[in-house]
Amino acid sequence: MIVKKILSVCLVILMAAQLVAQKKVDVKAQYALAEKQYTMMLQTHPDTTKTPQSVLPDGTLRDMPTSWWCSGFFGGSLWYLFDYTKSQSWKEAANLWTMAIQKEQYNTGTHDLGFMLYCPFGNGYRLTANSVYKKTLLTGAQSLSTRFNAKAGVIKSWNKLGQYDYPVIIDNMMNLELLIWASKNSGNKKFYNIAVTHADNTMKNHYRPDNSSYHVVCYDTTTGKVLAKITAQGAADESAWSRGQAWGLYGYTMMYRETRDRKYLTQAIKIADFYLNNPNLPADKIPYWDFNAPGIPNEERDASAAAITSSALLELAKYAPKTKGAEYYKAAEDMLVSLSSPTYRAALGENNNFLIKHCVGHKPKNSEVDVPLIYADYYYLEALMRYERF
Ligand code: GLY
Repeated sequence: MIVKKILSVCLVILMAAQLVAQKKVDVKAQYALAEKQYTMMLQTHPDTTKTPQSVLPDGTLRDMPTSWWCSGFFGGSLWYLFDYTKSQSWKEAANLWTMAIQKEQYNTGTHDLGFMLYCPFGNGYRLTANSVYKKTLLTGAQSLSTRFNAKAGVIKSWNKLGQYDYPVIIDNMMNLELLIWASKNSGNKKFYNIAVTHADNTMKNHYRPDNSSYHVVCYDTTTGKVLAKITAQGAADESAWSRGQAWGLYGYTMMYRETRDRKYLTQAIKIADFYLNNPNLPADKIPYWDFNAPGIPNEERDASAAAITSSALLELAKYAPKTKGAEYYKAAEDMLVSLSSPTYRAALGENNNFLIKHCVGHKPKNSEVDVPLIYADYYYLEALMRYERF
């Protein structure tokens, strides 16, 4: 009996050692480079009201105010640097750039509070248990919940889109983690119920039979009916905008983690399979900005979608059945290998100190095309850590 136990412990250790030995991305080296780049990023950003976002066509910095949906990603990235290195200087920088966003906790004019607050304050609270962060997150969740309409059963994303007054975008799945966290940390079930209702209606209305997602679904709040299924950032209403597929994948994986409701796991697996089996996914697994972009293969890649997807797959790999899990781990690893290669990973001193190159923000508006984007960096750092700790 004892011999059997010792043998099985040895086998587990051997398997774990093999997995570590087989790792194809040097996370330590990537974090060391990230530390150098973000040290310079801090030097080029002395004003915390101007958050790092991207680079303009003339090569100068595109910094944005704290009300911009991406304002929390830099602080969140600094928390990942602290998480990985445990260095006090990263903790101080992370706190500074987190507190810079604090006033957005009262912002009821956006659905993006999950991104803006949960990435910096959520990581900050996870790592420090600072009660100020907790209070800010709870206020933010309350502000976000004011955008929920019970008749439509979803949280409003934008305040208007053309003729529509209640547009909901797939990206909104990413804001639900803040609500679930708030429910757990306040005991107020309202936040949890909103998150689950939004996720259920999004699953029903945003997804096509092939498991790709529409970008925008517009609702009528008097009847609760769907009025239109369209796009804003994708190539066409019926196309699969790559980052939208990534947001949905990450969102439903997170919903399964938080609720253990198997329908969310099934949904996440369906999305992952749409993405990974898509004939337009290039061999290096960095997607074009839209899976149906009309000029493929002469279209820009969106490395931000790959960063989000690799992070989501590394979590989904733990919940999916064994064979699928191994497939998702391998796909995530392939994505991280590509993202860490000189094609997508900036060398020291390049790329205005951002980590990842070749992302697309809003192609139809010709805005942020083939540039670094702060959220690509954030999810890349997250994915690297998930990969190392897998
Ligand atoms: N949430 C906006 C975007 O992904 O561009």
